[in-house]
Amino acid sequence: MTPAIAVERLSKVFGGLRAVDDVTLAVAPGERRVLIGPNGAGKTTLFHCIAGTLQPSGGRVVLFGADISGLPENRRTARGMGRTFQISNVCVDLTVMENLQLAMLGNDARKWTMHRPMSGFTGLRERGEIALARVGLRDRADETVKFLSYGERRQLELALSLASDPKVLLLDEPCAGLSPSERQRLFQLVKQLSRDITLIMIEHDIDIALALADRVTVLHRGKVILDGTPDEVRTNPEVREVYFGRV
Ligand SMILES: Nc1ncnc2c1ncn2[C@@H]1O[C@H](COP(=O)(O)OP(=O)(O)OP(=O)(O)O)[C@@H](O)[C@H]1O
Ligand SMILES: [Mg+2]
Repeated sequence: MTPAIAVERLSKVFGGLRAVDDVTLAVAPGERRVLIGPNGAGKTTLFHCIAGTLQPSGGRVVLFGADISGLPENRRTARGMGRTFQISNVCVDLTVMENLQLAMLGNDARKWTMHRPMSGFTGLRERGEIALARVGLRDRADETVKFLSYGERRQLELALSLASDPKVLLLDEPCAGLSPSERQRLFQLVKQLSRDITLIMIEHDIDIALALADRVTVLHRGKVILDGTPDEVRTNPEVREVYFGRV
């Protein structure tokens, strides 16, 4: 079967540092892949190269069989590649719904109709409500973003990244910095995402990582040291040494 996303011999060099070093991986449609590895392993850099934020030094990125290595980030988004929307791009003085509607319009061909009020787009509110319900924020729709809790902002980030209807979604530590209960909530939301979305997620919390993943890719110093099932990760001596600091 054609992988949803394939990374072939990808490298990213910063000066003398090989942050990503000859990485090859393939993620099947509908799969949930979690990337783990110590700080500085190259996980985020790999994501940037997949999403098109960074140009790799070598190698290819293939989306559903099509080489997208040469495409800029927005063209990758248009082809179904989604990623966590950084909350810094959100207008904190607008409401949850307004931010979401802006994100949805960003992917709508009709956005080029200038000077048209947002209310003029049919179905936008309804679509927004469905999207917010998916991330547990429906009753916060009209709250101004600056009054959201940290956990709720993460839920909004997830809704924004889903607004483009991605086929492949890249999530970089969505649970980082959250309290245990917020973390659990976000984990459940991610877990409930449709299997129509192929998910690749970076996660430091090993319990969350292994509970969510169909397969896990372990990176260390830019290289893949294991690509396997959660059970294989739990029992692999090299991973235990590198990742857990013990055998
Ligand atoms: N723009 C950059 N310029 C130079 N070096 C960089 C740049 N971005 C990342 N690096 C370096 O590349 C290496 C990999 O960084 P990266 O952020 O990809 O790691 P990571 O696995 O995401 O780590 P963490 O778990 O801490 O988020 C690190 O040594 C980092 O300092
Ligand atoms: Mg990182």
